[in-house]
Amino acid sequence: MSAIVITLETQANSSDHLIIQRPAAGLSLQGRIRVPGDKSISHRALMLGAIAEGETQIQGLLLGEDPRSTAACFRALGAEISELNTELVTVKGIGLGNFQEPIDVLDAGNSGTTMRLMLGLLASHPGRFFTVTGDSSLRSRPMSRVVKPLQQMGAQIWGRKGNTLAPLAIQGQALQPIHYHSPIASAQVKSCILLAGLNTEGQTTVTEPALSRDHSERMLRAYGAELSIDPDTNSVTITGGAKLYGQTVIVPGDISSAAFWLVAGAIVPGSDLVVENVGVNPTRTGILEALALMGADIQLENQREVAGEPVADIRVRSGGLKSCTIAGDIIPRLIDEIPILAVAAAFAEGTTIIRDAEELRVKESDRITVMAQQLNKMGAKISELPDGMEITGGTPLVGAAVDSHTDHRIAMSLAIAALNAIGTTTIHRAEAAAISYPNFTNTLREICQ
Ligand code: S3P
Repeated sequence: MSAIVITLETQANSSDHLIIQRPAAGLSLQGRIRVPGDKSISHRALMLGAIAEGETQIQGLLLGEDPRSTAACFRALGAEISELNTELVTVKGIGLGNFQEPIDVLDAGNSGTTMRLMLGLLASHPGRFFTVTGDSSLRSRPMSRVVKPLQQMGAQIWGRKGNTLAPLAIQGQALQPIHYHSPIASAQVKSCILLAGLNTEGQTTVTEPALSRDHSERMLRAYGAELSIDPDTNSVTITGGAKLYGQTVIVPGDISSAAFWLVAGAIVPGSDLVVENVGVNPTRTGILEALALMGADIQLENQREVAGEPVADIRVRSGGLKSCTIAGDIIPRLIDEIPILAVAAAFAEGTTIIRDAEELRVKESDRITVMAQQLNKMGAKISELPDGMEITGGTPLVGAAVDSHTDHRIAMSLAIAALNAIGTTTIHRAEAAAISYPNFTNTLREICQ
């Protein structure tokens, strides 16, 4: 029985080709693995640590490119943040309202969370001028979703295309509290407005059409902010002016990263995998519900609460998957997992429909178009819908040359598809995985042993 061959080739332009040669038979995935720290929680731990008084210690921070962008921005604003090269990161906060005026442009890199959350803080710091930018993907992503409500609070923000695209310039102001009815369920929008409200006298409320991830609410409270939540209307109110105090934050493994292994374990015959220490906050577990609907054999073991977030070990065993329909309020609870869900659907019997997910078009890439194009190169049958995809599964996939479009979640989803495709797949620009999962290829090798 020949083994799988996984090769990472760095090109002259320093981008990587990940080449996966699957053996004709005999591959199954086994082991107990851990995934890196949750990306959403990592950003928030750094940001709140930076604006708190005293020291914050963060265990298990994601050491990926996105949190590095956040750390660099908040260092430029005056916080002392230790090097992001150990599992324990310390942040010496400067206290709310005390940002220094950075001498250069703040660069959020590829990270929408960094830019949008930071904008709420910058806009509410009177007397300072800031400029923010990002990479070419981030500079094409809509910022009006946060600029508009911030302007309603009195913020002064300028940018390209009618202040909708970065680079943006911000003249910090004393803002007015508002009640914002967001047209989209977005934790980035909600968190931006809550962070602006934190430094604004009075009560600022955000109401969403459906519940988005609530890590900001949990962590703001833990750092000392005054928050009230109305679950019936998906509303959160923050009272401005509270002092935040440094905390110890323990970051659970990222369920969005675990999702790749859960789908891999479900589709590769004979697999039995445990992903340990995964955050299972109910605002993030839509992927578990979707996989359950598809008939996947997934169990939560050792459920516990760690530093205010629910955590579990997740076991997956392979088995035949069937199609399902994913739409409505579950979408914000699995929005980042739709690319890998599309891979699961390509191996499931029947036609899976994903709707109400137009937000995918404005992520790090247009994830509807890119996933459909790339998986179809491998023989999948995916048609695009304006707000989702229709995926007819059950035909075997065949290895091909595919491209991540520099989107981390696309790179990793294609690698998992390759594990169950006949022959050899080459994933171009696979280095994108390091945005949220620096060790992805090593873990891939580990479970294929
Ligand atoms: C995030 C919120 C989501 C998600 C992103 C991280 C966050 O974005 O897709 O990866 O940390 O708040 P939206 O708020 O745009 O849905």
